[in-house]
Amino acid sequence: MDSTIIRLDPYHRIGEVDPRIFGGFLEHLGRAVYEGLYDPKNIHADEQGFRKDVLSALAPMQYTAMRYPGGNFASGYHWMNGIGAREKRPVVQDLAWQSIETNQVGTDEFVHLSRRMNWTPMMTINLGTGTPEEARNWVEYCNSPAGTLHANMRVANGFVEPYNLTLWCLGNEMDGPWQLGHVPADQYAILAQQAAKLMKDTDPRIELVACGSCTPDLPTYMEWDRVVLEYLGPLADYISLHRYVGNPNGGTSDFLAVTNSIDRQIEEMDAVCRYVQARTRSNKRAFLCFDEWNVWYRAREAEHTNGRGAFAPHLLEEEYNLEDALVVAGFLNSFIRHADVVKIANLAQIVNVIAPILTRGNELLLQTIYYPFLMYAPRRAGTALKPVINGPGYDSPMYGHVDYVDTSAILGDAELHVFLVNRSIDSSAPVEIHFEHAKFSGLKSAEILTGPSAQARNTFEQPRQITSQKFEIVEVEDGVARFEMPTLSLVALTLSFT
Ligand code: AHR
Repeated sequence: MDSTIIRLDPYHRIGEVDPRIFGGFLEHLGRAVYEGLYDPKNIHADEQGFRKDVLSALAPMQYTAMRYPGGNFASGYHWMNGIGAREKRPVVQDLAWQSIETNQVGTDEFVHLSRRMNWTPMMTINLGTGTPEEARNWVEYCNSPAGTLHANMRVANGFVEPYNLTLWCLGNEMDGPWQLGHVPADQYAILAQQAAKLMKDTDPRIELVACGSCTPDLPTYMEWDRVVLEYLGPLADYISLHRYVGNPNGGTSDFLAVTNSIDRQIEEMDAVCRYVQARTRSNKRAFLCFDEWNVWYRAREAEHTNGRGAFAPHLLEEEYNLEDALVVAGFLNSFIRHADVVKIANLAQIVNVIAPILTRGNELLLQTIYYPFLMYAPRRAGTALKPVINGPGYDSPMYGHVDYVDTSAILGDAELHVFLVNRSIDSSAPVEIHFEHAKFSGLKSAEILTGPSAQARNTFEQPRQITSQKFEIVEVEDGVARFEMPTLSLVALTLSFT
């Protein structure tokens, strides 16, 4: 393959990278909360019932914003069921996933876990079966000082100081016919406006995420977003978008080109935000919150999504391979390339349910998609630069023309971070990185993720087939960085410059 020449210029800046684009998502779904994180009888459980081994595996991923408690679950959730003495909390039916919810984990447990893990809680209110008043009561419970009804409940539960949670989602996927309480856009907009006003009246510091289109496949795509944004006006700080991708036909090249359509989805959503801002002559524009994204296509049928009345059933337990990890890196590259508009993004989800970490009894497995986060997390601070790529590419039947090497870059403090995916299924990719107005002086660090085939994955029996490794063959000469990326690989590197 011919060389791919990447030119980066410190003056060609896209925008500051918001650390919240490296967020996660924890839903009361399957074995995510119960068994995955909270399992008091497990040998790894700490005194609060959380699995120490899972928390230790999550820590290096350095998630920022953590969305909770759903997802579809949120649209039937009543937060008051999840507070107070555990033995008095009701056991209820969760209609979203046809499961049993014991409410043993609720707001207080989640907030305290978030503090331990350095996550920023991102709460999703129930606009499916809940009311705007229930939502504002939740804000009062979390954020108001002692002295009023719901704040006093928090105090009575042992937490005197307000939690000051400033990021709230106005429901979940309300455009989806599967959603509990799904309604047309104008009806959702009215409900969301009522909730938003009551919530901001309770605590003006909060930021709100309106439900946008949860997939480009719905017929309401874009029109839903226009209606919602126009109606909510300045009450919407962000609009959400979701995306789950898959490779049901086994075409790796095509699948890896999906980044084109992620870029496109972001740009379309940004276009509707700008359109509404222009139409309403507003000084305020809504930014994008990509609050669910991942690869998810194997565990989608009823046997994987219907809990059949069980507690902590095995649901959405997707097993990930190398190509999935490269697609996850493609999502992250796309968010970085759109740092000016994408301010929050949440990998769905964090454990057992479409997750980088799987548990089996007392065991724990790191799936392939764990590693991109490990490689990006220490390199995420700074300003996204616009990469100019000259190199070979290919035509994907589904997504159009792409470069073989998908790239993003972040200018840090006296260092440059570059993330590259070689999508070629049969050829290594020689790469040169040039830095305009400066010369690279050396390589600070580099890692690679690759494997024997696109389908290779980690299993409980062979857990270390695919792991990130040191990448030592980067040459820095005459101010230019040169290396050869193996077939189907992700490289993350940090270069110093003068
Ligand atoms: O993340 C799994 C589910 O996918 C979420 O509950 C829902 O919002 C989406 O459809």
